[in-house]
Amino acid sequence: MYPVWQFPAIGSALVIAFIASFHILPSHLATSAFWFNVYVENKAYKQNRPELLEFIKKYVLTILIFSFVFGSLSGVGIWYSITVSNPKGISALIHNYVWGWATEWVFFIIEVVAIYVYYYTFGKVDKKTHLTIGLIYALSAWISMIIITGIIAFMLSPGKWLKTGGFFDGFFNPTYVPQLLMRTSFMFAVAALYAIVVAATLKNKEVKSFIIRKASLWGIAGTLLGSGFFVWYYKALPDAAREVAGMTPLIPAIMPHIVIGSLIVLMLWFIFTLIKPNWAKLVPGVLAILLLLAGIFSAESMRERVRKPYVIDHYMYSNQIIANDMAAKHVKSNLAAIDAQGILHYAYFVPAGLRDITDSNMLQAGKVIAQIECSACHTLQADGWLRPLPAMVKKAGLSNVDDAQALIGFLNAFPYMPQFAGTEMEKKALAVYLVSLYK
Ligand code: HEC
Repeated sequence: MYPVWQFPAIGSALVIAFIASFHILPSHLATSAFWFNVYVENKAYKQNRPELLEFIKKYVLTILIFSFVFGSLSGVGIWYSITVSNPKGISALIHNYVWGWATEWVFFIIEVVAIYVYYYTFGKVDKKTHLTIGLIYALSAWISMIIITGIIAFMLSPGKWLKTGGFFDGFFNPTYVPQLLMRTSFMFAVAALYAIVVAATLKNKEVKSFIIRKASLWGIAGTLLGSGFFVWYYKALPDAAREVAGMTPLIPAIMPHIVIGSLIVLMLWFIFTLIKPNWAKLVPGVLAILLLLAGIFSAESMRERVRKPYVIDHYMYSNQIIANDMAAKHVKSNLAAIDAQGILHYAYFVPAGLRDITDSNMLQAGKVIAQIECSACHTLQADGWLRPLPAMVKKAGLSNVDDAQALIGFLNAFPYMPQFAGTEMEKKALAVYLVSLYK
């Protein structure tokens, strides 16, 4: 076990959620925008409309700055935050998918080189070569999505991998195809939103309305198809995930409303810009992107929540304890060892003097147990943002140690919580700590 990374008040899980949700915008823009670019550039050459190229130059610069500065920074941010908050989860992913990532990085490098070459060879190489460079970018960016989606989907629905441990058994898992198609569709809506914002700043009215009309159509198609694939994706979720998806303590009732609401407003925005392209302005365009961000945050957050209590479904709990044997990989569940030794002995990093519980250190020991086993999903402070434990204790009415200890004993009766692992004495210490939070 690694040391626990507790982020004050916000909670480590939400730190990841903020960075990762933001990252969706630049990453999906990076994977989609060049399809639109190549399409417009092709039109410019075929119909001999060089004025369209003005848009492309501006659009590529936007992608370069937004995707390759903010996107790259937030991408690295995801790696940092997931590595410190869930090192064992990351270790499991690396052990299984390091070649997936290596392949993805190859395509990412092609992407980075291609966008710079594309930008700086404008008008300097022949049209066909320039279009080919654009296509190389578009394809390699999308291939990186093809790979990353496999790994993300694996965590939610590892499918046959749980038995075989096979790379492709986990990669081509039950939610892979619908999720890839959903992301592919929605990425065109992201490209369209940005294209409208960039085109809104163009002076040439004719170019502006041409681009905005086309982008709006791409946006409408992307949103409609993406919503359709979402339904398929939802149906492909493991039964347990669909079961917890309906539980309001896990998924606040407002979340699905934000997702559906943002999709409806986006559709209306695309329809509006299709009908009145010249009325499209910068500020509402940016607001539409922010609204999409709210929708993304809720949707991704729901995807993360339905995976509970696991970080890798039916393999590792969110608190990094391995829940089930994995014979194919010679990995044993940690539960029996922790129950026998006690979590305070099993965990490598425990403050001095707290490994053995006595009457005088019981409260402190209980707190450390909560940090190790509960803080992945609960902040410990009362004013914490992520299901603060004091509020949970209050909700469950845990005003005395016996009740608290009984509840800890069947924590996994809540389908979204892992079972408690540790000795009876540790259960008691945790109960004492929980009751100390009761106000
Ligand atoms: C995998 C995530 C996860 C972990 C780990 C986790 N919980 Fe929870 N817990 C939840 C969720 C989700 C809820 C429901 C949130 C709500 O009611 O707002 C919850 C609710 C609770 C409740 C209130 C139950 C009720 O009556 O509704 C208590 C008490 C609680 N948790 C205690 C703990 C303790 C103690 C630990 C550590 C041993 C722990 N939890 C670990 C996810 C988790």
